[in-house]
Order: sequence, then structure tokens, then C-alpha cells
Amino acid sequence: MKKILAAIFLLSAGFAQAADPLAPTGRWTGYSSGRAATPPMGWNSWNAFASAVDEDKVMGSARRIVDSGLARKGYHYINLDDGWAAKRRVADGHLMIRADKFPSAANKKTPTFKPYTDKLHAMGLKAGIYSDMGRNTCAQAWSATDEDLPKGSVAEREVGLHDFIEQDIDLYFREWGFDYIKVDGCGLRDFGPNSAKVKAGQARALDPIMDLGAISRTDVPGVQGLFRRVGAAIERSRPNGDFVYSLCIWGAANVRAWAKDVGNTSRTSDDIAPAWGRLLVNYDSAVHRALYAHPGSWNDPDMLYIGAGDFDADHLTEARSHFALWAMLNSPLLIGADLRKTPDALMDILGNADIIALDQDAAGNQATVAYDSSDLQILVKTLGNGDKAVAVFNRGSGAIDVNLQATQLRFRGDAPVEMTDLWTKKQVSFTKETQLRVAPRETAVFRAHGTRMLANGVYLSEQPGQVNPAVDGVTRPVADPAIFRTAAGWGGTRGAGDRPQYAGWGGARADSAPYGQTLQVARKTFAAGIGVLVNSRLEVRNGGHQRFTAQVGVDDSATDKANAVTFSANYWRNRIP
Ligand code: GAL
Repeated sequence: MKKILAAIFLLSAGFAQAADPLAPTGRWTGYSSGRAATPPMGWNSWNAFASAVDEDKVMGSARRIVDSGLARKGYHYINLDDGWAAKRRVADGHLMIRADKFPSAANKKTPTFKPYTDKLHAMGLKAGIYSDMGRNTCAQAWSATDEDLPKGSVAEREVGLHDFIEQDIDLYFREWGFDYIKVDGCGLRDFGPNSAKVKAGQARALDPIMDLGAISRTDVPGVQGLFRRVGAAIERSRPNGDFVYSLCIWGAANVRAWAKDVGNTSRTSDDIAPAWGRLLVNYDSAVHRALYAHPGSWNDPDMLYIGAGDFDADHLTEARSHFALWAMLNSPLLIGADLRKTPDALMDILGNADIIALDQDAAGNQATVAYDSSDLQILVKTLGNGDKAVAVFNRGSGAIDVNLQATQLRFRGDAPVEMTDLWTKKQVSFTKETQLRVAPRETAVFRAHGTRMLANGVYLSEQPGQVNPAVDGVTRPVADPAIFRTAAGWGGTRGAGDRPQYAGWGGARADSAPYGQTLQVARKTFAAGIGVLVNSRLEVRNGGHQRFTAQVGVDDSATDKANAVTFSANYWRNRIP
């Protein structure tokens, strides 16, 4: 008989009890539409080509994906990013393709991507497209030149979804045959009356409803409503459910808390750049968010930048770290390199089947942080067969000697642990603890087998993919700059620098209190458990376990202990899908 043991600690914040959202439903309410039982894998044009994308470039990478065997390993989605649109035909709102760049679209009166998606499908691949939730795209907001942007009148340049949601979605999924859409958000934030493009008469003003730097200037329900409408339109246009819906608003509008209910992947930070510091920023935006990912909906710290800058063939340590960390986070694995030119050493990293298997493990548990310090982190993830994946990540610039302990893996310290290094394939066996040295920027990654600390079960925090913070107690997002900072990668050193950007964080954490403290009740600390704010409701999917046991209490870090807290649990047998 298996059992689950959960330790749940509530922080009392003194808000009035809101009865309705806390009432249990007996259902799993996390997003489960589309085809993302495991994180999507494939390729995207943006990091390699930005808006200067064309059919040859895309097909060249698609061919290499097939020829190199990466497709067989799961890389299926070939995603066109910003830059494909020529204009919107004003008479009927139909979107026009840059047929000069996509010749297979050109041989019809109205260009169509159908031959292009047919070709990808015939190669055994899937096709992805890009749009924006506003009237204009991000390249239209930010591009320094006009060269690759839509041309024509202001109305013709409005290639974003905003006023055409149902029409455009139907065109993409039903008529053109795409299987994946990334929906960006610059159109909702960058076209206020003072924007340069609006002032220059190139774009119509759209009062921003989203501000990356200020939740107070963001209409969260408005943004969420638009994204839900797109999701509903996709389900209508693809009734067989063969789609991936990818949200790209970089952590704004409190999306880190609600994307798990709305789409298949959601960006947690601003754009990645081929620079180590930038990798850290993007990784940090997702690493404490394990409870906000589950099979069907994943945190997205952005595409892989393996193949450029700090992650090119002269920086294999950094490239390997990038890959291993993204796999531990259950991030989408979307290659961002021009694969026509990618050296074999990097192809080998992208093709490491043992590490891909961690990302694609059916249990869908994002790794949690077992050890955390400024320079070193140990991430642990529970795999479907009970093994653990372990990543020992040196963020800093000096080598670090590490004592890795069985208990950090929730394995018993008095029984042997067998580990395989997934880069070198070397086997290690140890009892209690083992020593290893990690080089600067290195991530050692292992698959480990041992004896569970809980003989018959698992802690809830070992299976975050089966826990949904349906209500996470955040009644009003509050700024907590110590936790999350996203930096604009292109800012140089002008101005005041990149101030902390906070747009809502969410209040449930695995193995820590919501604001990062050690779980502790009445001075007793707990290594395993879930930390939530008061007024929270957790849904737990229970894969065949017989018993649920919880120890609950108010954490010592709570700031307001005067109010009473009620804990309640409900159990539905066989009713949760
Ligand atoms: C950004 C997005 C990038 C890319 C770009 C296109 O907002 O984060 O991944 O899609 O827009 O202009």
C-alpha cells in the first residue's frame, strides 16, 4: 500500500475568509487542453534570425532536425516567430504572408501557409506560428528598422490578434494547418499615446492594459480575459485538441499565478540573451515555481540559446548547464540556433537522450530546490519510476566542493544510492553522502536510485506536478523585489539600470514558506512540505495512493498570528480525472 504524507503550513495574513473560491470542487482545475502532457520540444526562428526569417532558413533547420535524429528524440515543433506577416488586407481582415520570403506561400492569389505546413507534416514535424495579443507585434514596437515589418496603412499594419481573435485563430489552425501558437504581448503595453511608433503615425494608440514594471498599472482580469478568449477560439478551431498554446507576457499581469489554468506554456521572464547573467535571470524566474507547473501547463524561462555567445561551441560547460537546467525545470526545449551551421559538439548536447528524458518524464514534476545558496544550488526532481534526477549547479566563478546527501534526495541515509552521471555515464554508489567538485558554471546531472525516506509513499513536495494551487492566497499581488528581478537584456549601462520588475508572484512553494524561509512550526523545522498563504486551496491528484496524511500548522514566519486558521481536507474517490 502506498501513501502520501503531506506537511502543509499556512501563513496567516489576516485577510477575510472568501468562502467561494476556497470551497473544494472535486475536480482538477489546472489546464489540460492541447498536447502538452510533457513540455513541447522543437525549434524557433527568433534567437537565430529575429524578423529576418525566411523559408530556406526554417526548412534548413527543420531538415537538420530530421537528418540528425533530433526529431526522433522528440524535437517536433518548428515554430515561426515574429517577421512572417506582410499586412492585414483591410477589405476582409485576412492576414497576408511575406510571400517574397516564403515562396511556397506565393503561388496562390491569396498567399497561404498550407503548402508550408503540409511540407513540415510530411517530414513528421509539427508547425508553429506567432502572433500578438494586441494589434501590433513586438518587432513592430521595438525593431530599429522598418525592413522586416508589415507595410502599408496603419490598419494594414495591425497584424495582431486583438480585433480579430476568432478569425485569425481559425485561419492559423483550420485553414493554414498550424499546430502551435505563441501569443506575445507587446501590443498590450507598448502602443500608448506616447509611444514613438504612435507619434510617428505608424500605429494606432491602444491604451496599455499591461505594464511589466507595475502591477498597479495592469488590468489583470482584462489581460487574462483576452488570453482565455484565444484559448477558447483555439479549442473551437482544433476540436481534436491537437494544439499547443504558448503565452508570452514575460511574467507580467501576474501571469505566473494563472497561466497554469489558461495555456500550455507561459514565459516567466523577459527575453533570454546569449549571456550567462541573463541565463541566471531567466532560470531564477522559474526555479521556485514548481507548484505552478503540471502535465499540460509548463513554466517557460524562454528558448534555448545554445549555439551563440556564452553558449557556443567554445563554451560547452555553459551550454551543458543551460540544457540540463532547462530539462530540470520541465521547460519547453525549443532550439534557437541556425541548425544548418550548428557544430556537432552542440548537437550532441541537444541530443543527450538521458537529459531529454528528464524533461519529458511522464510524471511531469518540475525540480524543486533541495539546497540553495548564492553560488550553488541542488535541484531534485522525482521521476515516474521513483528515481530522482539531481542537478548540482555552480552559478559562480570558482570551483565548489559539494557534499551531496541522500536525504537531500529524500532517500534514506543508511541505504546505498546508485547514481549515473548523465554527461559522462559514469556510475557512482554511495551511502549517506558523496563528494563531488563542480567547476565554475558547471551543472553535474545524475539519475539516482535509492530507498525512499517514506517507505510507502512520497511527500507532496516530491510530486509538484500533481499539486495545483487552485487558490494560492494572493488576494492582492504585493511587490517583493527580493524574490524576482528581470532585466532587459539589451539595455546597456545607460539610465538607472534594471530595477526590480514585479508583477505578481504567487504564494505556494515546495519545501519552503511562500517567501523563501525554511518551513518551521513551533520552532520545529521541516525539510519537506508545502508553504502556502492563508486563504489557499490546493488540489492534489492522487496517482494510485491509498492514504493521505497531513501535518499542518501556522509557520513561525507568519507576520499576523492573531487570527485563527482553519484547515480542511476533502477526498473524492475516482472522481478526479
Ligand atoms: C518578444 C518575445 C520574443 C520574440 C519577440 C518577437 O516579446 O519575448 O521571444 O517572440 O517578442 O518580436
